[in-house]
Amino acid sequence: MTANVFVTRMIPQPALDRLKAAGIQFDVYSEDQVIPRDVLLKEVKGRDGVLCILTETIDAEVFDAADKAKIFANYAVGFNNVDVAEATRRGVCITNTPGVLTDATADLAWTLLMSSARRVAECDGYLRAGKYTGWGPMLWLGQDVSERTLGVIGMGRIGRAFAERAAAFRMKVLYTDAQPNKDFEAAYPYEVRFVEMDELLRKSDFVSVHVPLLDSTHHLISERELKMMQPHAILINSARGPIVDEAALVKALKEGWIWSAGLDVYEEEPAVHPELVTLPNCVLLPHLGSATIETRTRMGYIAVDNLIAFFKGEKPPTLVNPDVWKG
Ligand code: DGY
Repeated sequence: MTANVFVTRMIPQPALDRLKAAGIQFDVYSEDQVIPRDVLLKEVKGRDGVLCILTETIDAEVFDAADKAKIFANYAVGFNNVDVAEATRRGVCITNTPGVLTDATADLAWTLLMSSARRVAECDGYLRAGKYTGWGPMLWLGQDVSERTLGVIGMGRIGRAFAERAAAFRMKVLYTDAQPNKDFEAAYPYEVRFVEMDELLRKSDFVSVHVPLLDSTHHLISERELKMMQPHAILINSARGPIVDEAALVKALKEGWIWSAGLDVYEEEPAVHPELVTLPNCVLLPHLGSATIETRTRMGYIAVDNLIAFFKGEKPPTLVNPDVWKG
């Protein structure tokens, strides 16, 4: 195999070793930072394939620059950074990394939920600032999680894994999705109901977003929805930033429409709304959903397995635009 691939950012070495063992030549962008657009456009020229990440917008301009590449392996389950329709029109395969990051992302959403409920970031800052002078009955009170109501928006792979973890807290689950998930309902040991979004917002103590970013989910949580939530409710977003209207969320947190928020993703990532970082009642993480050594390695394996299959003439295992595959 003599294919030549460009990898737009360093990924775990075992995945690169697998690519090498398959006889595929590759170059990795040398800096550990988001690749500048002009460098990306230059580097993809003449390559047979590209392993890209979610910080790059892969659009017609990139496809033009990548004059030979017929496969872009996106190192993420979400592929809203790729113009898939344009790729399909040009006969370019797009692949993603589903499945392997489900548990890590669900765990991270729970980390945000627990941290928000128990004010972990605020308390950590307080202690490090040397302000802790002794235990106090009224010090840093948070909220119970056990036996409360969890609202899950989107019962896909990650939404379900997130909701399953609520059983350990004997929580009632309210969820929305395109249709009821009877399998989850049968397996969940406590009360669970498929409801309309408005009911979920009104009745949940914790609301967590697990839908992909689509035109229909852009600003799914905006002023109207935040105003429906209870003043003690907590919003978690570990899916994609633009699903939540950040300006409306700032208002909600400042004016006490909701109690707090836990965010892993942002509307204009990597930029964060300047007021969010000044608010104590939110926990802010730098897009860490899948950030474990094991998960990021598995994501790398899937991305390179797609490339290897493609260059062997086989259908890439996680092709997101199967219409393009003619063999
Ligand atoms: C994804 O894969 O879509 C995540 O956001 C990054 O792990």
